[in-house]
Amino acid sequence: MRPPPVRAGSKRHLLMVSVWLWLCALCTVWVPMAQAAELVVRLSHVVAPDTPKGLMATRFQQLVAQASGGRIRVDVYPDSQLYGDDDEMEALQLGAVEILAPSLSKFGVAGAPEFDVFDLPFLFDTLTQVRCVTQGRIGQELLQGLARQQMVGLGFLDNGFKQMSAPRPLLQAADFKGLRLRIQASRVLAAQMRALGAYPVVLPFGETRRALAEGVVDGAENPVSNFLTQGLAPVQRTLTLTDHGYLGYAVVANPRFWASLGEGDRTLLQRALNQALAEGNARAAALNAQALATLKQTPGLQVHSLSAAQRTALRQAVQPVHADFARRVGTPLLRDVKNLCLGGISG
Ligand code: SIN
Repeated sequence: MRPPPVRAGSKRHLLMVSVWLWLCALCTVWVPMAQAAELVVRLSHVVAPDTPKGLMATRFQQLVAQASGGRIRVDVYPDSQLYGDDDEMEALQLGAVEILAPSLSKFGVAGAPEFDVFDLPFLFDTLTQVRCVTQGRIGQELLQGLARQQMVGLGFLDNGFKQMSAPRPLLQAADFKGLRLRIQASRVLAAQMRALGAYPVVLPFGETRRALAEGVVDGAENPVSNFLTQGLAPVQRTLTLTDHGYLGYAVVANPRFWASLGEGDRTLLQRALNQALAEGNARAAALNAQALATLKQTPGLQVHSLSAAQRTALRQAVQPVHADFARRVGTPLLRDVKNLCLGGISG
């Protein structure tokens, strides 16, 4: 803004300059006030921003800012900056954070054992089968059931299938013997590692790299997008493409926060999230494919594939886990998953 042209030093000039300065001061206060958010929503997660979950969170942030004209602001905290695996669920239940997107493996120990179905090794062969569960009636019922754990279930997001990393290739059950393998806090994942002859070690995601570097654990399981973005390649010599299990997320909100929203804001947030999740699900597989291509070019890292016979043998080795956890997961749920989404296969 320019001051109006009047003779310098005149009374009129001084008056106009002071009005002009006053207007400028008002502008600097008023403009940010007009743009300041009325509602701030904290979304905390544990992975890097350039992963399927990190990108979905940023997209949700953008969509909410656009749809609300800046009135609602989503503050995203990646990389366990705000809360990590140990405390994020409690923080949500206490209202210290409004939205989380924990991996499905973390809901079983949080009191929702039906979510353990997603950890059953070799249950799903394709993302299409997983989506039949997460995007259909079964997924809706799973989300609704989270009300018992003081969470509002808002939607599902894929990461992808997990691969094994270790100091040696893991092509058959004998290769796992005696290895200490990091897992998430999931009883099914612990049983899976034991069935393969390994020792499961529960560690928060954010501590995995250091534990591998210091030899506290020998290996881990993760989709390649997490493996790459956590910088695990320099601390692991081999990656074996086992596709033995699925990793995905449920987006959940604190129920008091969700109930406190007006109908319009709740709809705005849910619509923005639905779009961010749909876009995220559409590109998760491509992100993992890109990560794998990068890892294949990484010096010092060997990437191994399983033959069909090796995969069948590993699948056989972990079959007892299915029988052991059928009751915990819920027999009717398992039957529905198999009949509706896996073509009625037995397991
Ligand atoms: C995540 O993707 O949220 C973390 C997965 C893990 O803890 O292994």
